[in-house]
Amino acid sequence: MKSKNKGLIGVSAEAKNRIEELSKQITAWNKAYYELNQSEVSDQVYDAAYRELIDLETKYPEYKKLNSPTQSVGHQIQTNKQNNKVEHSRQMLSLENAYNFNELETWLKRFKGEEKDFVCELKIDGLSISLLYEDGHFIKAITRGDGFIGEDVTANVRTIKTLPLEIAYKQPLEVRGEIFMSYSVFKTLDGFANPRNAAAGSLKLLDTNLCAQRHLSIFIYETFKQSAQSHFDNLEFLKTLGFPINPANRFCSGLQQLKDFCLEYDEKRKQLDYPTDGIVIKLDSLAFQRELGATNKYPRWAIAYKFSAEETETQIIDIKLEIGRTGALTPTAHLRPVQLAGTTVSKASLHNADQIKNLDVRIGDFVLVRKAGEIIPEIVKILPEKRPENTQVFEYPNYCPSCGSELEQKEKEVIIRCPNILACPAQIQRKIEHWAGKQAMDIHGLGTAIVEQLIENNLIKDVADLYTLNLEAILALDGFKEKSAQNLIMAIQNSKNRSLARLIYGLGIRHTGFNSAKLLAQNYNSLLELSKASPEELCNIEGIGEITAQEINKFFAEPSNLALIEKLQKAEIQTEYKITESQIFGKFMGKSFVITGTFEISRENIQETIEKAGGKVVSAISAKTNYLVCGEKAGSKLEKAQKLNIQILSFDDLEQLII
Ligand code: IVH
Repeated sequence: MKSKNKGLIGVSAEAKNRIEELSKQITAWNKAYYELNQSEVSDQVYDAAYRELIDLETKYPEYKKLNSPTQSVGHQIQTNKQNNKVEHSRQMLSLENAYNFNELETWLKRFKGEEKDFVCELKIDGLSISLLYEDGHFIKAITRGDGFIGEDVTANVRTIKTLPLEIAYKQPLEVRGEIFMSYSVFKTLDGFANPRNAAAGSLKLLDTNLCAQRHLSIFIYETFKQSAQSHFDNLEFLKTLGFPINPANRFCSGLQQLKDFCLEYDEKRKQLDYPTDGIVIKLDSLAFQRELGATNKYPRWAIAYKFSAEETETQIIDIKLEIGRTGALTPTAHLRPVQLAGTTVSKASLHNADQIKNLDVRIGDFVLVRKAGEIIPEIVKILPEKRPENTQVFEYPNYCPSCGSELEQKEKEVIIRCPNILACPAQIQRKIEHWAGKQAMDIHGLGTAIVEQLIENNLIKDVADLYTLNLEAILALDGFKEKSAQNLIMAIQNSKNRSLARLIYGLGIRHTGFNSAKLLAQNYNSLLELSKASPEELCNIEGIGEITAQEINKFFAEPSNLALIEKLQKAEIQTEYKITESQIFGKFMGKSFVITGTFEISRENIQETIEKAGGKVVSAISAKTNYLVCGEKAGSKLEKAQKLNIQILSFDDLEQLII
């Protein structure tokens, strides 16, 4: 009340206005704070306004409204807010991250931990909290804050239903854990970016009733008890006191079990109703933990193995057309490189012109990219709110960017093609890359850059030309020395006797994937036999559809393809199926195998090795499976095989068995 000279009526009218004004303002601030988790003013400004309102309402009770912000529960807590900073009994540390198994191993090696005992826990994406119990009562909850001093949020933490407020343990006890929000609760709220933000906002709410409606959850992951020896035992002890302990926690010994846990939960987490962003690996021995100690940020005895994101944001720096081996043009977004699911992604497929239109993507746009089927990243959507001013709309050209032929688009087809199937350099390039690929003729060392040079130097025009290359020709290319040139020639020559299935697949017949190629090889003994098959006959093979049958027929009706096959035969490429003795009297006759994990050599090669010895490779483990061939990073299949007592073989074991 600034004016002291006004008459009584004037003063009282001014008070009324001021009360209304303050009430409106404070209600708006509260709304922003409660609902949007935004502090629009500093605590000081808020408190001054609040005090002024209380004073006025005391002096002029006739103007005090029932819905005044001074009458809401929320503010009673707000008044506590001024002095709610609490010091932690010991620092709340953070965790060092490992982004892959190499980094995990490096960490283990620091303290010779490869063979030690650990506890693996899910890293919940929420907020860490320290909870104090005295004489069996829950007395205080403190947020992490800067690790030394946190905020007292006891009233709100009390609303978490699974947290025991009374425990059967009378000595002072501190437990720490993670407060989080489940996806099912998060889905019912608006305005938060993710469950973590929503949990943080909820914990800050001044009105405990509102906080209770947010249904926060908690898992406890740590305690400090003098007599304890092992972290795992500590967790068991907390369980007996009624604390919520994550059921996924597992005692793990040695590097392999740690890796298995990480892989297992990288899958299983997708089914969980709460967000996780990694695995926390903690040394089990508390004595050893003490010995290792901590830096000023992290304990040396624990690490967070982080899951890699499967969706991330980046910017489109260009859109270019890629020409496939059948002449189809695929618009491809060139991206500002980002880490995604463990690899650096710099390109994403835009599939076709319709997709560009539907997504409304432009060069310069910010986009969300996702790993689809783990191989080719795709653009999920653009971020319109981030669109810069000078974005460029992508225009399809009329002519092939590689050979200049006029592009074609068949009616009703979304795909635009370059019709120059025999001479378009980009198509030749893709055909040769496909031929040399792991599932096809598996020619080591024949990568994109080398194929490009071979085409540019007019050394090859089709796959058969590869077999005419000599040492001098390759030595003339950039980056080759005697030894590397010899290796390439060897790799090419070695590919002459691949299986019929690989050969059929390598030819790159449209709609004929590796599995179809295998079926065809099982039904025909040579390329010549296959070439004579009618579409009707092909359709009779279980697993070969009408479209594939048509395409195979078309392929062998095309004179240029027949000429190519002749050329391949002249170059002594094996085009017939040869039954070897081992396939008749093979060691693995009647045995069934499953292959899992990653290997240095291709899976197809392993499969062939097994099949050559008369064995059968199937995809799923069952009681009938005889062997599991297991590489690195094996997951659930390995676990299942162990449960079913199936013999597990490394690739080396497999080779030993064959000899
Ligand atoms: S242990 C000294 N265990 O991750 C050990 N932390 O990046 C410190 N977190 O601040 C934490 N789940 O908020 C631990 N099972 C778990 C966890 C976990 C989530 C959070 C915690 C910590 C952050 C470190």
